Amino acid sequence: MLYIGVDLGTSACKFLLVDENGEVKNTVTKEYPLFFPHPGWSEQDPAHWWNACLEGIPELLRGFDASQVAGIGAGGQMHGLVALDDQDQVLRPAILWNDGRTAAQVDYLNHTVGKDKLSRCTANIAFAGFTAPKLLWMQQQEPELFGRIAKIMLPKDYLVYRLTGVHATDLSDASGMLLLDVEHRCWSKEMLDICGIAEKQMPRLFESWQAVGTLHPETAKALGLPENVVVCAGAGDNAAAAVGTGTVGEGHCNISLGTSGTIFISSERFGVDPNNALHAFAHADGGWHLMGCMLSAASCNKWWQDEIIGTTDYKGEEARILPEKLGKNHVYFLPYLMGERSPINDTNARGTFIGMNMDTTRADMTQAMLEGVAFAIRDSFEVAKSLGIDIPRSNICGGGSRSALWKTILANVLGIPLDTLATEQGPGYGAAMLAMVACGRFSSVRQAAQELVRVKSTVEPDRQLTQLYDERYDRFRRIYPTCKNLFAQLI
Ligand code: XUL
Repeated sequence: MLYIGVDLGTSACKFLLVDENGEVKNTVTKEYPLFFPHPGWSEQDPAHWWNACLEGIPELLRGFDASQVAGIGAGGQMHGLVALDDQDQVLRPAILWNDGRTAAQVDYLNHTVGKDKLSRCTANIAFAGFTAPKLLWMQQQEPELFGRIAKIMLPKDYLVYRLTGVHATDLSDASGMLLLDVEHRCWSKEMLDICGIAEKQMPRLFESWQAVGTLHPETAKALGLPENVVVCAGAGDNAAAAVGTGTVGEGHCNISLGTSGTIFISSERFGVDPNNALHAFAHADGGWHLMGCMLSAASCNKWWQDEIIGTTDYKGEEARILPEKLGKNHVYFLPYLMGERSPINDTNARGTFIGMNMDTTRADMTQAMLEGVAFAIRDSFEVAKSLGIDIPRSNICGGGSRSALWKTILANVLGIPLDTLATEQGPGYGAAMLAMVACGRFSSVRQAAQELVRVKSTVEPDRQLTQLYDERYDRFRRIYPTCKNLFAQLI
């Protein structure tokens, strides 16, 4: 049998065809635009996501026997607000996870409703990208559209809806709405009331590996698939990537260097960071996880190379960075190009280079950018350590993990070994694994991970370099508090 894993990303949708032994038989990527209609806003058109599926899935199946496809699973960018009217038509462009328009609503939720109450109801506090503040924004800024909302859902849920006709979401993705009682895995009535939303406007909740339905007959025809293909609920992209890298069960860690940068710590028990700097979410394996999310990780690299120095030769650019320069850079970079989520929760924060002199080279600046992202990941890593969590090693995935240099920098900034998996397609592969569980190929997500995920290579930290990076990190962490008030005045 064959299984399709979909990774609905921010810049593109990736499709994977996987056989029953977990071997990736084919991959297809379809890009779509991202819109920034105002500074700090970030939107996408759900029709573009669906068109990517209509084109991508038939292309994925070309040369394969489509009647062998048993299941589809999707992982997707989290937190985005997709609002449908009573005819299931999209009411406005989706407001994405890295959108910063809701500063006032976040302030209301965290300070008027209060962080204690939010944390009690949902295990989390408000961050600008989360879904609940976006609902409040719509209620205040677009009351007519808000009044017409019949259903809300998250980005990959829109694909599941178009595939099956069912309004569904899964618990890992729903955790990032700030509307879910994460501990008890059900909607929080109190939070729905606060946001002026009734439970009937919410999608039905599923565990990630549960079947939501089979393909809608017309959709099956359009995609060239049998009608009995099972569609599972899927997961938020970070939980899907965790599944795809075998980060399931107690105490495992995955770092994703994608558009966003995340550190994901899986657990069999529910737990909350008392300061809510890390998110406490449900996992796609039936357990929970803590997660730190920085808004710009690989996107800093893309911005710096494509937009600023004007190159597409990322490898060539990295080759200018001499190994003996690692741990000795005098330039520092704050990677807050879209404001920042974890752990500082500051929509006003901005990207900053500091420490240049007349000797500074282009290579030093590129190195500072790569190091700045690694230091910002360490900020969340330090929060986890301060909670008594031991992270002896981590998996790593995402576009940025294809850079050997970046992995070396990160392993030494964190002082832990980083494992790259044989299948590098984190979220898409995890989504295909969830479909395999939904179809009965494996009895649980953990069994699927045990049988399918293998480490391909490991980057070990070097003791001396780790020490040098400890000193650099100590300087890095003093830059943001010094700039914080100034950032607020620059807006
Ligand atoms: C996680 C988050 C991002 C998006 C990116 O909280 O906002 O990782 O899921 O796709």
